[in-house]
Amino acid sequence: DRLRPSDLVDTAAGRIDRRIFVSPELYQLELERIFARCWMFVGHESQVPEPGDFVQAWMGQDQVIVVRQRDGSINAFLNSCPHRGNRVCHAEAGRTRSFQCNYHGWAFGLDGRLRGIHETSAYDREPGWDASGIGLPPVAQIDTYKGLVFATFDEQAPSLGDYLGDFRWYLDVVLDNDPGGTEFVGGSIRSVMRCNWKLAAENFAGDALHAGWTHDSGANAMLGQSVPELAEEESYQVNVNGHGWEFNLDTVGNAATFGDRRVLDYLREQDAHVRERLGDLRARMVGSISSVNVFPNLSFLPGQNTWRTWVPKGPGLTELHTWVLVNRNAPEEVKEAYRRGAMMTFSPSGVFEMDDGENWEYSTRTNEGVVTRRQPLHYALGLDSRIDHPELPGNVFRSQINDANQRAFYARWAELLEDER
Ligand code: FES
Ligand code: FE
Repeated sequence: DRLRPSDLVDTAAGRIDRRIFVSPELYQLELERIFARCWMFVGHESQVPEPGDFVQAWMGQDQVIVVRQRDGSINAFLNSCPHRGNRVCHAEAGRTRSFQCNYHGWAFGLDGRLRGIHETSAYDREPGWDASGIGLPPVAQIDTYKGLVFATFDEQAPSLGDYLGDFRWYLDVVLDNDPGGTEFVGGSIRSVMRCNWKLAAENFAGDALHAGWTHDSGANAMLGQSVPELAEEESYQVNVNGHGWEFNLDTVGNAATFGDRRVLDYLREQDAHVRERLGDLRARMVGSISSVNVFPNLSFLPGQNTWRTWVPKGPGLTELHTWVLVNRNAPEEVKEAYRRGAMMTFSPSGVFEMDDGENWEYSTRTNEGVVTRRQPLHYALGLDSRIDHPELPGNVFRSQINDANQRAFYARWAELLEDER
């Protein structure tokens, strides 16, 4: 029987069908209707400052090369040769004048167009040969939001502004708390998890619940103290279009520091002008204990500034790409403190990453059992917790200990999978 996505997600009762984590058929539908249609994060502008700079990115299982053009714009092209399909670019990032395929030597310009061919004369003898129509296919749309580059394969996709909607108000907490904007510190980390990508994404969208339990031993080992108990007061989950942000306004500046005085001092120095820029409420979100997922698979922790995508490689396999975001104008030692902090917490060698990875792997693997996967999962925390808030836009829920954002994530997931156009 065909699995109907909307039958598998019951947000009113707070129940999710486990087959969404293991079904190969649903996974293919996700690639078609989510990853090939949504706006996907493909990089930060700071990664490609000059014409010819490029960085690789994944939009689902489609790999693209994100390239700064000669006119200063950014474009992205499939990294696959139109001749026999080989990759045309093997470097993860760099600067180039062209991309030349290893197999038969076809070469493509920064604009993706075919520029040269080894053995051109053989082709020139072909009647009807026309090189002008051949090239690396570009994405359908590409746009930026305050330094973040997003692309979509869907010509009919709404604008990036509409896709992010009111979530931009929250994104500005990390992207626009300083007039210099942000950048990625150099390099990125990759690791592989034997889990379904959604378990990681939903965790960042709204799972504050696990922090005090899963990460308690890590926090003790690293900081010599437990994860602070999260207050109910001034603690929220918000979601917009399936994007989720959980946060509190109690611990500003603490999460970001890893006990590092340089980061804490920096946040305190910044505080007055952040208040002026973003207002008192959002100033209290900078560095608070919080986590975020931009639908479908871009996640970050505003406090720790770890920035990541959960790249799907199959229903039970996810490649994690991690970067560190910093304010461009922050002092070098503060950037370095953030980088080290991220390495020590959320990297393959970090104390917190392993805790999460193991949980997600078993949460995926157990569902391979045919009897196990008939048992529904419980997502019913905070069913009646929706509130109106005078300042916070989007769908707002009381308490960051809540399943509200996870329910919104899966509601969006089902809605997109049902869209048959
Ligand atoms: Fe690229 Fe033949 S596959 S030139
Ligand atoms: Fe975690």
